[in-house]
Amino acid sequence: MRLLAVDHPLVAHKLTVLRNAKTDSPTFRRLADELVTLLAYEATRDARVDEVEVETPVAPARGAKLSAPKPLVVPILRAGLGMLDGMARLLPTAEIGFVGMIRDDETLQATTYARRLPDDLTGRQCYVLDPMLATGGTLAAAVQFLADRGADHITAVCLLVAPEGLELLKQRTTELQIPVTVVTAAVDERLNEKGYIVPGLGDAGDRLYGVVD
Ligand code: URA
Repeated sequence: MRLLAVDHPLVAHKLTVLRNAKTDSPTFRRLADELVTLLAYEATRDARVDEVEVETPVAPARGAKLSAPKPLVVPILRAGLGMLDGMARLLPTAEIGFVGMIRDDETLQATTYARRLPDDLTGRQCYVLDPMLATGGTLAAAVQFLADRGADHITAVCLLVAPEGLELLKQRTTELQIPVTVVTAAVDERLNEKGYIVPGLGDAGDRLYGVVD
């Protein structure tokens, strides 16, 4: 598994505002969107392209076009939805799949309540959007769904990651023998007893969309 913690002043600035407990939901949504676009730029460095010819107003030129099959972007509901526009903006030809997962507050186990993915992902580049890689259970399950369908490379885009989640993901992806790249704005210190990332930014879903329960 490859880890890329993006070291860029704009990423650091936006992440700091997201961490601030005083940042309101509209600002949080806008900044999460902007931050994902910056992370997406790094996450798509290996996006496959074909060489093409294009006519400029002056002369023919060589260029690049995103290859077929189209990349697949998979936000993990609910909080991953807040990352979708920022990612799709850079990958407009991508198709979108959905995985809905919820974490039990007591056991910290993730259960799947929705899944809408193409049956065959052979040869597709897949990008999973999960803002908080905490215990790693949710992301590991999503990676398994994609690997079961034949995905040959998966990039996870996360706003923040915890070392515990990275360790679990590394174990699972080694077992699955699938190359996974994690792109994030920062690797935080640890998880607390409730499974929250420390210092983190709180519950990403609540901060994006409000408290539902
Ligand atoms: N999910 C969140 O939204 N925040 C955390 O800190 C951990 C999991």
